[in-house]
Amino acid sequence: METINKTDTGKISKEVSLMDVDTVALDDANDAVVIIDQTKLPGTIELVSLRTAQEIWDAIYLLRVRGAPAIGVTAAFGMYVLAKGMPMDDFDSFYREFVQKRDYLDSSRPTAVNLSWALKRMDGVVRASHEAGRSVPGILEDLKTEAEAIRNEDIAVCRKIGEYGLSLIGDGDGILTHCNAGRLAAVRYGTATAPIYLGQERGCHLRVFCDETRPLLQGARLTAFELSASGIDTTLICDNMASCVMGQGKVQAVLVGCDRIAANGDVANKIGTSGVAVLAKYYGIPFYVLGPTSTVDLKCPDGAHIPIEERQAGEITEKWYTRRMAPPEIKVYNPAFDVTRHELITAIITEKGILYPPFDRVLSKL
Ligand code: MRU
Repeated sequence: METINKTDTGKISKEVSLMDVDTVALDDANDAVVIIDQTKLPGTIELVSLRTAQEIWDAIYLLRVRGAPAIGVTAAFGMYVLAKGMPMDDFDSFYREFVQKRDYLDSSRPTAVNLSWALKRMDGVVRASHEAGRSVPGILEDLKTEAEAIRNEDIAVCRKIGEYGLSLIGDGDGILTHCNAGRLAAVRYGTATAPIYLGQERGCHLRVFCDETRPLLQGARLTAFELSASGIDTTLICDNMASCVMGQGKVQAVLVGCDRIAANGDVANKIGTSGVAVLAKYYGIPFYVLGPTSTVDLKCPDGAHIPIEERQAGEITEKWYTRRMAPPEIKVYNPAFDVTRHELITAIITEKGILYPPFDRVLSKL
């Protein structure tokens, strides 16, 4: 496997492995957000520097960086980097441009609430610092502190989620996961994978089945890659094999991430998640959703109110194939996420603890 560290200047500086680099990082000296380009995985580990609003927007939309927490951290660092280039001598001009760039980044993907959550936090810092009488250069310092806090919290939060999650699974268990809610979707540890990584640190042997996750194959390209690179017992299956492995008794728990948790406990996650939940219910396997409380959206009453991103037809008909695999005029429906109804969820595992139904009551107390 080719592992290179390449910047947008095209310089290859040293050999790296996935474990050496954060999914999202700030390069303050060069006014850039540095991401692992996830569209190049698993073949190549390529670091890309994002400097302009357009580059950051494209990286999120094109899934160069993806996964709810990682998108949030990218947006936070992105706003700080962009703010560095805004007018410094007049707050009104600074804030006008800040709001315009904030709204632009917010339009890059609709479903993961962590994007708007992080942008709101950055916006809150600007307004609070201004009210406290800080000059624009002072506000800039506060933005950097906030963006770094969002990043550092992500690492701590994922570790806590891992602790809670690990308390629910046993040595030797088979775990099924869908899409990638791993370290590539966060800064480190991931959410759904955090119990798996912590378990490994503590000598607990888990066998993980990764759904390949059509159509963009985040399970095959990302989860199978990062888990096996970490030495975890990993088996890749096609999405339509989940029922088979569950029926064979190979799965003791399902762990998935989430992009938005509505007030009643309905959860949006990568397309196909709800089908896995239905299967888990049928086979009597616990279905756990793992995510930070920043993914909870109490303003959203239920799953029907979660905006679901629809993506281009070519992701189904052409991408990954050497030639088109569908008739030229065929109608295509390509929702990127689906909603798992709260009745199908055994527990939601957050950094604040394990939440059991009735979710509406426990979520409102968070
Ligand atoms: O379209 P993606 O790859 O951004 O979808 C990612 C997922 O659905 C993840 O499961 C979710 O964001 C949780 S990541 C910790």
